[in-house]
Amino acid sequence: MSRRPREKRLEQRLRPLGATLPKRLIRWLLIAALTLTLVFLGATAAYSAYKNYRRRPPDQIHLAWLQNPATTMTVVWRTYRDDTPSLVEYRLKGATDWQQAVGSHLPSGTDGVLHDVTIEDLTPNTTYEYRVKGDYWSVWSDVATLRTAPLPNTKSFDVIYLADTGLVGRKDGLATGTQQIVDEIAKLNPLVVLAGGDYAYYDKDRRYKPLDRAIDTWFNQMMPIAHQSVMMPTFGNHEALLGENFTLWSQRFATPTGFDDNRNYSFDVGNAHFISIFAIYEQQGLSKATLKWIEDDIQAAKASGKDWVIPFMHVSAFAEGASHPSNLALRAQLGPLFERTGVKLVLSSHDQAYERTYPLVDVPKSMTPTSTSKTCYTQNDGVTWIKTSPGGKKSNKSEAFSIFKNPTPPAWTAYRNNTMHVFTQLHVEPAGENQGEVQVKTFGVRGDGSPPVVIDSFKYATGTCSS
Ligand SMILES: [Fe+2]
Repeated sequence: MSRRPREKRLEQRLRPLGATLPKRLIRWLLIAALTLTLVFLGATAAYSAYKNYRRRPPDQIHLAWLQNPATTMTVVWRTYRDDTPSLVEYRLKGATDWQQAVGSHLPSGTDGVLHDVTIEDLTPNTTYEYRVKGDYWSVWSDVATLRTAPLPNTKSFDVIYLADTGLVGRKDGLATGTQQIVDEIAKLNPLVVLAGGDYAYYDKDRRYKPLDRAIDTWFNQMMPIAHQSVMMPTFGNHEALLGENFTLWSQRFATPTGFDDNRNYSFDVGNAHFISIFAIYEQQGLSKATLKWIEDDIQAAKASGKDWVIPFMHVSAFAEGASHPSNLALRAQLGPLFERTGVKLVLSSHDQAYERTYPLVDVPKSMTPTSTSKTCYTQNDGVTWIKTSPGGKKSNKSEAFSIFKNPTPPAWTAYRNNTMHVFTQLHVEPAGENQGEVQVKTFGVRGDGSPPVVIDSFKYATGTCSS
């Protein structure tokens, strides 16, 4: 009995509080719900951005030399956001602090933008670490290495030429060596890669459309090589004809200022001078203006003391394969020019088999070998023409490697092989070591994962072959 009045009083006291509780509770619940919603949305956006980055890190990373190869390096890559700054961080290998270099945007051709950054004031013959800016916050590419060129006659270096790659995974099954060629060259990690043309074969491989997407795919395919070795191109018939477009290809590469909208250009590495020549026609030769530019360029290189002048191009002046025979106009034009100017080694491709001549003089008339040696030549010898093809993709014409027209090789042939994918390595020594010679090795790759084999090896000495 005595409890009831007390409970009543308590009830009366709590009633105002009970009346206000739902409003406060609702307010706090609303605030909590709003906060949770914002946190959820923020976390979702962050996760989505993270997933985007994981799916699309900076790609197509490749190195090039537009200016002095001993003291500069140009880095090109693609990001998907067009407000991402063109920023490279670099440091001496093993150092702690990053330095920064900034550049500019270029059209990507497809999604996002290309970034083009030239790092300057580097030390010759030095390895640096670098990374490029990606999309989203503090996202960067993986750290990789780049190397500057040695000053002339201070250090040896390696150069690799490859061509006729195709894109991995072609439906017609012809790209039987592409992936392994990329893997093997990436393992060798040369200072420079000379890309010899015929890259994506857009006319027969239409998995990536339009052409710019096929170009994206090719640059990503080459990234294991080109993010650590400088990649300098020449262009093939496929980049300029057959439904492709020279401008679309050339604007993706960084090349020095040359001739004819950079269809031809040159650059120096140590004591060697490399000339990229635009040779794309099956039988047509070069224009007079192009020939004059080539000759002037070689003479200037010789005058500046370069020991080696090495032209590289796509179409071959010496080829016995049935898929793409010798370009005789090119042979008639470049034979005398190269002999006159002291060129010793010429690199080309196009016809899908490996062929290498003896050192020849009096081209295109008698085409006389100056030596019967298979392995060593001197400065008194003629010009050796090397055809290194394919670098991954077999011929559409034969659906195999190029078939030699005759079981007996021509008199000018020192070695030939049409059973493997190939790439050619030049090891250039400085004067004073091994007489400053150039050692040439061509590697055959079966594409089945078995180790590459050296199928041809020879050298040009600056002294005598017996010393
Ligand atoms: Fe070709």
